[in-house]
Amino acid sequence: MSQRVRGVIAREKGKPVEVATIVVPDPGPGEAVVKVQACGVCHTDLHYREGGINDEFPFLLGHEAAGVVEAVGDGVTDVAPGDFVVLNWRAVCGNCRACLRGKPWYCFATHNAAQKMTLEDGTELSPALGIGAFVEKTLVHAGQCTKVDPSARAAAVGLLGCGVMAGIGAAINTGGVTRGDSVAVIGCGGVGDGAVAGAALAGATTIIAVDTDDRKLEWARGFGATHTINAREADVVEAVRALTGGNGADVVIEAVGRPETYRQAFYARDLAGTVVLVGVPTPEMTLELPLLDVFGRGGALKSSWYGDCLPSRDFPMLTELYKQGRLDLDAFVTEEITLDGVEQAFGRMHAGDVLRSVVIF
Ligand SMILES: NC(=O)c1ccc[n+]([C@@H]2O[C@H](COP(=O)([O-])OP(=O)(O)OC[C@H]3O[C@@H](n4cnc5c(N)ncnc54)[C@H](O)[C@@H]3O)[C@@H](O)[C@H]2O)c1
Ligand SMILES: [Zn+2]
Ligand SMILES: [Zn+2]
Repeated sequence: MSQRVRGVIAREKGKPVEVATIVVPDPGPGEAVVKVQACGVCHTDLHYREGGINDEFPFLLGHEAAGVVEAVGDGVTDVAPGDFVVLNWRAVCGNCRACLRGKPWYCFATHNAAQKMTLEDGTELSPALGIGAFVEKTLVHAGQCTKVDPSARAAAVGLLGCGVMAGIGAAINTGGVTRGDSVAVIGCGGVGDGAVAGAALAGATTIIAVDTDDRKLEWARGFGATHTINAREADVVEAVRALTGGNGADVVIEAVGRPETYRQAFYARDLAGTVVLVGVPTPEMTLELPLLDVFGRGGALKSSWYGDCLPSRDFPMLTELYKQGRLDLDAFVTEEITLDGVEQAFGRMHAGDVLRSVVIF
């Protein structure tokens, strides 16, 4: 048995996305079908459409989602039909060398559904980040479903499924930001503002937001930025140093995914400080740095996959902070749109008009 639903696919590299009929199989062992309620438009979806992730077209896009479990396959015990869940794209295996060492957020063998969703002619779809959630119903691995408080707004908590979690985690989990730290965040989209909010939650006292767009800088202030730098008007490294006693920030988070902004992050941090790369570069990008500077500046150069989050630990906790009014997830939702609006939402993201457009079903 299978169901036919509407979803957004990227059929060819660089071509506008389209709404198509998607065939969703019934859940097999360890799988779940989720009725999607809300799914945010993330820059990574655009990367997929542009061929920047891989060439496995056609893609079923969308991956920052919340919804209700409709059906589960054999052997699924953690979630049941009716559960309100946020989808995650790193369902940890529990058995790989990272999991066995007690560092499951690095899991090297994360789970995805074994069956494929297809087009009506049988063409297999590659679901974005193993999810694919710009679709009325999606098939995932049951471990990709994390239960959260069902009274939370789906459009808001769904964002914990990717960008906002990646940003918050980049600051708190990967960067280890703590009270009294100075933090700079380069690139203040959904991910960067997540990092700003995370730094504020962790008690950083100086939080410098860097972007090329004044509207983004204004929004970043709303999430807790204490200072802002427009990268078109100032030398970012000099400006960050000037705001941190001439030293640079303790933690600099790169949330753009480009060599030039990474270089800024590298030099805008204090000696022995930490750089966190959470922006995703494309395959052709390279970086050259004097090795002596890598050595001489000390500290840590880290990457952040999904904010080094553990969905089972972090999604319910952040949902609770949201419900208590201490994490303003609603402020990330610039607009609610329908499935037909994803292509235009990419345009608005590109133009910097939105933090997150969220598809509502
Ligand atoms: N590591 C992860 O797990 C993870 C998860 C989700 C997204 N991402 C990646 O994070 C990055 C950001 O995603 P997003 O959804 O926030 O995108 P976005 O488009 O909403 O935000 C990017 C921001 O960077 C700003 N920017 C662009 N060039 C800049 C420059 N030279 N200097 C300063 N700011 C600049 C833009 O104005 C924009 O505000 C993307 O590369 C995305 O793929 C990573
Ligand atoms: Zn594992
Ligand atoms: Zn994403």
